Amino acid sequence: MADPFRNTPPAPEDKGVMTAQNIAAAFAGESQASQKYLAFADVADSEGYPNVARLFRAVGYAESTHARNHLSVLGGIGATTENLKAAWGGETFEIDEMYPAYDAVAKLQENKSAQTSIRYALKAEMDHQGIYDSTLKDVKGKKDLEAKPVRVCPVCGHTVIGDAPDECPQCGTAGSYFKEF
Ligand SMILES: [Fe+2]
Ligand SMILES: [Fe+2]
Repeated sequence: MADPFRNTPPAPEDKGVMTAQNIAAAFAGESQASQKYLAFADVADSEGYPNVARLFRAVGYAESTHARNHLSVLGGIGATTENLKAAWGGETFEIDEMYPAYDAVAKLQENKSAQTSIRYALKAEMDHQGIYDSTLKDVKGKKDLEAKPVRVCPVCGHTVIGDAPDECPQCGTAGSYFKEF
């Protein structure tokens, strides 16, 4: 039987600035749609529509394949060392510039819920930055991440390697609710 995974995403291409901008916008839009549909699926489940939930998850998966293809065309998927560097760079930008700037605006505009979601993200990005940094050092030496679970707070995204805390230090959610990967 044919290998169902033989089809790789499109290769990176230099197709001119306008096309690159369009594909970047499409990557953002498809990524957002896929996240949105996952959230919509959870709502459908909680309202007693498990098959509507299934539909949202299926279409969300389709949108994520579009997002991945666009990212591939943009040259945004490399080998693991490159990917860890890119991931570390993204987290660092969010910590040092993006979220502090967004937080300042949210404070000026007295938007409390935005300040909370920004704080949750900023704190979790710090976890991610540290984990990516040490993981990159390991992978440069051809060493995989240790085989411990990665646990994530389902409310704020606080991320730890190994045991969950009794209570999330950022949002107070009980450690037993942490999602394990
Ligand atoms: Fe992050
Ligand atoms: Fe949390």
